[in-house]
Amino acid sequence: MAMKKCTVIGGGAMGRQIALNTAIHGYEVAVCESFPAALEGLKGWLEEYLAGRVSKGRMTQEQVDAVKARFTVTDDLAAACKDADIVIEAIIEDKQAKLDLLGKVSELVRADTVIATNSSYMVSSTFAGVVKDPERLANLHYFMPALVMKLVEVVKGEHTSQQTVDKLMAFATETGKTPALVQKEEDGFIVNNILNAIKEEAYRLVAQGVCTTRDLDTAVKLGLGHPMGPYELDDMSGVDVRYNVLKRRYEEKGVKSHGYDMIEKLVNEGRLGKKVKHGFYDYE
Ligand SMILES: NC(=O)c1ccc[n+]([C@@H]2O[C@H](COP(=O)([O-])OP(=O)(O)OC[C@H]3O[C@@H](n4cnc5c(N)ncnc54)[C@H](O)[C@@H]3O)[C@@H](O)[C@H]2O)c1
Repeated sequence: MAMKKCTVIGGGAMGRQIALNTAIHGYEVAVCESFPAALEGLKGWLEEYLAGRVSKGRMTQEQVDAVKARFTVTDDLAAACKDADIVIEAIIEDKQAKLDLLGKVSELVRADTVIATNSSYMVSSTFAGVVKDPERLANLHYFMPALVMKLVEVVKGEHTSQQTVDKLMAFATETGKTPALVQKEEDGFIVNNILNAIKEEAYRLVAQGVCTTRDLDTAVKLGLGHPMGPYELDDMSGVDVRYNVLKRRYEEKGVKSHGYDMIEKLVNEGRLGKKVKHGFYDYE
């Protein structure tokens, strides 16, 4: 049976856009955000974004009203999970926080609810031990900005059933995305592994004083035809998101990546990227 109700947990940069994209494509969507300030920020963003679509002529007021009628923002996890056909977890990239949350979620949803994680790097088997009926668990990985980027990676774990994979591939297509199936778990999936190789070199070149971040970004854009340089990309996706990935690799594998100290310094200074108007670059 086709899925109709989607719950997104975490209304941050990714969660809010995944949720809105899903509502635009006809699903009933609940976004669950547990931090009051973030919840208010999410409501304001939604109003502003949709008003902008109308003023640019991209959506009619009737379409916006219909999307709003399908879109709920709540801090009540149990209510948000109760009737969901699919739950997409999009909270902070922290293993323990995701373990705590996904354990709770699998107690609150129906037995046939698909549970997906939008983690950037962690494969879903990381959480299979806390999820009841883990055959309904998989990665559904979106890209920033999720309202615009066409790709989603669907990652099948050994615990994931083919039915869950089929449902996620259909969900991606129905919500305007093109899914790429990752048939075997690998941290970082496809795109982030390719991107990592590029970023490692980008950090090495700057850390060793070969060029500035600005010149490196210019070279990658004009020499390779990429729409954005690696440093601009980190500012857009969040310097803290990148830091958490490098920190985890350092803690788990003892590998300290090029640029680790540079990124740690930015995070300690609160320069988390575009979302706070300061990262590798300033945006004021
Ligand atoms: N930013 C990107 O480019 C990008 C791309 C793909 C996937 N992701 C992944 O999506 C997820 C969310 O990333 P984001 O960029 O939206 O981050 P974000 O910082 O913008 O949002 C994080 C969300 O998690 C919530 N949160 C924080 N701590 C929590 C906790 N302990 N329990 C429950 N909720 C908590 C926050 O309130 C917020 O809603 C991460 O797993 C990230 O790796 C990010």
